[in-house]
Amino acid sequence: MAKTLNVALPKGRLGDKVYDMFEEAGFECPSIKEKNRKLIFENEAAGVRYFWVKPSDVAIYVERGAADIGVVGKDILMESKPEVYELLDLDTGKCRMAVAAPKGFEDDVQTTLRVATKFTNVARQFYASTGRDIDIIHLNGSIELAPILGLSDVIVDLVETGTTLKENNLEVIQIIDTISARFIANKSSFKFRNREIEKVVDGLARVVEGRKKEKETDK
Ligand code: PRP
Repeated sequence: MAKTLNVALPKGRLGDKVYDMFEEAGFECPSIKEKNRKLIFENEAAGVRYFWVKPSDVAIYVERGAADIGVVGKDILMESKPEVYELLDLDTGKCRMAVAAPKGFEDDVQTTLRVATKFTNVARQFYASTGRDIDIIHLNGSIELAPILGLSDVIVDLVETGTTLKENNLEVIQIIDTISARFIANKSSFKFRNREIEKVVDGLARVVEGRKKEKETDK
């Protein structure tokens, strides 16, 4: 029998949704739904072993081969550019990477723009492409606080519903990219365990297509 595939899933709300897609694709592992603090769950018969990983660490596990495959937000792929294959857009966990500022903000191009963000590489690349001179302030969370307290002029952050911005009197001024969850594979696993990985990709692709069709008929 084929060896079990190691699958790194992002712990949290996105991970729960993504696991449901794996289950629907035929790679179920019922023990994962038990309420406990375990991090590894295996279904030998289905050939999968799941583990819950901090979302920003999924790509590290996959890049280094501790996981054969995994699911990660496009934001993290944009920021850290890991050496992995991006095989499928799962069309879930959708949001936008955007520049936001206090309402009424006017950019004075004579000054260096202070940008607070978790995504320093994304922000640097974006402003390099516009030729704007910036000073990056790296923060780890609650980025919206920075312009309110005068730590930065703008932020580069993820916007999902827009509620956090709205409730803090900020607004989107530029959209950098649209984000969603992506299925990734370790490069060597993809070569040596291609058949098993393609089976998972095909199963998930069918689930994604099925959900898109459902949405269309609901309209
Ligand atoms: C994310 C993001 C925004 C917020 C956007 O933060 O950084 O702050 O969600 O969501 P919304 O548009 O639906 O309000 P997260 O909750 O991950 O926490 P963080 O501030 O620690 O990054």
